[in-house]
Parts: sequence; C-alpha cells; structure tokens
Amino acid sequence: MIILDGKETSQKILNNVREKVSTLDRKPHLAVILAGNNPAGKIYVKNKQKAAWQVGIRSTVIEMEETVSEEELLDKIYELNERHDVTGILVQLPLPLHINKNNVVMAISPKKDVDGFTPENVGKLSIGLEPYFYPATPQGVIMLLDEYNIPIEGKDAVVIGRSNIVGKPMAQMLLKRNATVTICHSYTKEIEDKIKTADIVVSAVGKKIVRCKMVKNNSCIVDVGIYRDSNNQLSGDVDIDYISDSVGYISPVPGGVGPMTIASLMFNSSKIY
Ligand code: GUN
Repeated sequence: MIILDGKETSQKILNNVREKVSTLDRKPHLAVILAGNNPAGKIYVKNKQKAAWQVGIRSTVIEMEETVSEEELLDKIYELNERHDVTGILVQLPLPLHINKNNVVMAISPKKDVDGFTPENVGKLSIGLEPYFYPATPQGVIMLLDEYNIPIEGKDAVVIGRSNIVGKPMAQMLLKRNATVTICHSYTKEIEDKIKTADIVVSAVGKKIVRCKMVKNNSCIVDVGIYRDSNNQLSGDVDIDYISDSVGYISPVPGGVGPMTIASLMFNSSKIY
C-alpha cells in the first residue's frame, strides 16, 4: 500500500507557484471574505493566508460580522470585482444562515473566482470548455493522482458525496479525464458494493463511510473527509483498519487532500485574467 503524501506533493506545487509568482510583472492579490463566526472557516482562512504569504501572493482578509446583510456582502463583492489590484476573490463558506449563498457566489466575477464556484466556471467545466478556475479540492485530488502517475482514463471511479464544493466538480473532473464515474450520496443503496468495484474512490462525506474489507485489488482511495471524532482526533471518511492490504494507494488524514487543497488554491490564485 502506497501512501499518497499530500504534504510533500503540496510543497512541490507551492514551490512552483512561488517561482511563477516571482516572475510576474503584475502581482496576484487574493481577497478573502470571512463573514460570521464559523470556527473552522476562521482556521481555513488563516491557513490560506499563511500559504499565500509563503508563495509571495498578497492576501487581504475582509472580516464581516455574523449580522452582516446580504446587500452589504454583495456590495463588497461588486467593489472587489471592479478593483484592478484585486486578482482573486474567495468568499469562505459556510456563510451566516440568513445569507443566500448562491446569490453571493453568483456575484463574483468569473475571472476572479479562484474557487471555481460561479455558474460560468461550473458550466464551462460541465460542457467541456476550459473554466477560468477549477475548484480547489477536486483539482488538488487530480494533482495528487497525477503526481503518483495513477491512471484515470478508462477507470471506474466512485465519488461519495455530491456537494458543489467537492463531489459534483470531482465527478466532472474525473469524467473530463475519461473515467467512468458513479456518484454516491445519502440515498444511494449498497454503497459498499459500489466501492468494491471501483479503481478510484474519492470520499467527501465527513463521517466514517469507507470501511470495506474487500476493496478492489490495487485500487486508489482518496479521503477528502476531515473532522474531529469523539476523541477530538482529526479523522477522515476511511476506516484504515477495515481496508484490505490489497489496496494500491490511500491518502491519509491529515496530510493528504488537506494540504493539496491549499496548494491548488494558491495555484489558482497565481492566475491573473
Ligand atoms: N468551505 C469549505 N471548503 C471551501 C472552499 O473550498 N472554498 C470556500 N470558499 N469555502 C469553503
């Protein structure tokens, strides 16, 4: 079993991004909006800022109160869309519940949408055009598979989870690389049977769901889930104790997809349109 080392791979990507940024005449500047008090969101934003600093990308965090109105948030985005010195805009999710997330995402200029969440970027991906940006987490997963030369074309891939942030774009990106993709979710029957037939499993659920004794020989399991378990330990979707030794590759939590997501976001943030 080979461990997909996201920490090491992400450092390589960050080094490349740093080199590229150092050659740019116009410097990238990422604006991050953090609205409300979600503790995980605050940690993610800190990590994104740290990575941006590491690669020489200017970042500005705009903090807004939990009580911020949707209108105020939208006005801030319109302002950032217009600013020539701001090249990337990221609105950290989740947002306070009274704010319509879709309205906020749709307000971001697609050319500054480093998350790849706007309808133009999502739509381009789904009709086979090149989006300005691919969503960071699935792009990070693909980068990790590529680093280990794991073939995707013609393979059977199972994606568990259908979120707009991970599951759906992950399926699209695997499809773009000519995998045969099955998307599983909370209404899917016999998920284990599907996992057992997969060459590539990407799980993005946030609870222990992949516990097959009989995964396919030499398959690749990518664990996107990250949460604190009842012992306050960082945990993923895959129960390693239940996974057969015949698995080919597995990504650990922590140190797998987490650092890849950040590196992938920095890769996006270094692009200027
Ligand atoms: N919240 C959880 N994941 C993400 C992400 O990739 N982007 C943003 N903006 N918010 C998130």
